[in-house]
Amino acid sequence: MNTVPALAHIPPGIVSLADHEAHARTVLDAKAWAYFSGGAGDETTLRANRSSWDALSLHPRVLQPLAGGHCRTTLLGRPLDLPILVAPVAYQRIAHPDGELATAYAAAAQNTGFVLSTQASVAMETIANAVLNEPGRGPLWFQLYIQHDRGFTYELVKRAELAGYEALVVTVDAPSSGVRDRERRAGFKVPPGISAVNLAGMPPPPIARTGTDSAFDGAVALAPTWEDLAQLQARTRLPILLKGILHEDDARQASAMGFAGVIVSNHGGRTLDTAPATSVVLPRIVDAMGGQTAVLVDGGIRRGTDVLKAIALGAQAVLVGRPCVFGLANAGAVGVAHVLRLLRDELEIAMVQCGCATLAQVTPRVLFKNN
Ligand code: FNR
Ligand code: LAC
Repeated sequence: MNTVPALAHIPPGIVSLADHEAHARTVLDAKAWAYFSGGAGDETTLRANRSSWDALSLHPRVLQPLAGGHCRTTLLGRPLDLPILVAPVAYQRIAHPDGELATAYAAAAQNTGFVLSTQASVAMETIANAVLNEPGRGPLWFQLYIQHDRGFTYELVKRAELAGYEALVVTVDAPSSGVRDRERRAGFKVPPGISAVNLAGMPPPPIARTGTDSAFDGAVALAPTWEDLAQLQARTRLPILLKGILHEDDARQASAMGFAGVIVSNHGGRTLDTAPATSVVLPRIVDAMGGQTAVLVDGGIRRGTDVLKAIALGAQAVLVGRPCVFGLANAGAVGVAHVLRLLRDELEIAMVQCGCATLAQVTPRVLFKNN
């Protein structure tokens, strides 16, 4: 006889993303906690991502007509119920045996978008088969790390196209891993039985060519350039977004090359420590793109008020990373769905209190200016 597994429930007292984080810390072992929550170096950027959203004040408005309000939007020409996507996060089976499958289900159930990492611990086809036909789901995108083996990379892209992914998110800010002190102190390693299954069968990278044992050898010597991105554009019909743009010159180049979008991101403070907080650079990137290209942002989004601020600064949508993993650790798919629902509720309440019935009304005027 089949037994239906009991549906996990949200532990009592969890009413915010911060509560999910605090509870996840008691659920995850010390190594997994270091991996998921840590950042690079002294974690200056990791902290700044949070504190700089907090440093922006919202300016409430009263007595505005709000009947029929909603937080619907469009992204790359496609309607979307709310401007939130789940960010690509590697190896989610470390947080919960269901891994990315649970996260993708939760995203579909809450009508948010979902981005699957190249280093996911569940096959990309399994995820796509599970959610593609869910009514009301948001976009399903594949995050691509261009691999040292370009042929294998193009195979991966073909697989993503065939499986039904609707865009490629090419992450460009991690030609090498950051200096992950917290992970190293904890002695984190991907546990046995969990791996980047979509990369199975890829030939190993060639040995460093100069033999000088420098950061510039090995993977970095084979890291992609703008030229590789141009070649990728020529080989796929999928729209491409570049993830990890922080400099206006890079934004202008992305715009000139006709990419569908950029994601303003410092990889959740995990690559270059002391890189600026994303809320600080977002307006500059929006200016540099000149309105032609979608601009999304991630890093430290923990409240609906943060989402509202991101939209006010010109983002079309936000991505949320760690909180989804914490919800996953706490209660599987139900936990992730709870995280996403909390954010949506908070966003709608913030819109109401700022007198905005739609996201189109969320302009820089909702931000309090101290002069
Ligand atoms: C990430 N991130 C990431 N990004 C990416 O493009 N590919 C990946 O495989 C991963 N893996 C990954 C693992 C873990 C444990 C974390 C925390 C992050 C970065 C992620 O997509 C996103 O940019 C940040 O997590 C956003 O910041 P918050 O929401 O976590 O503060
Ligand atoms: C990370 C890589 C996988 O941030 O992007 O852990």
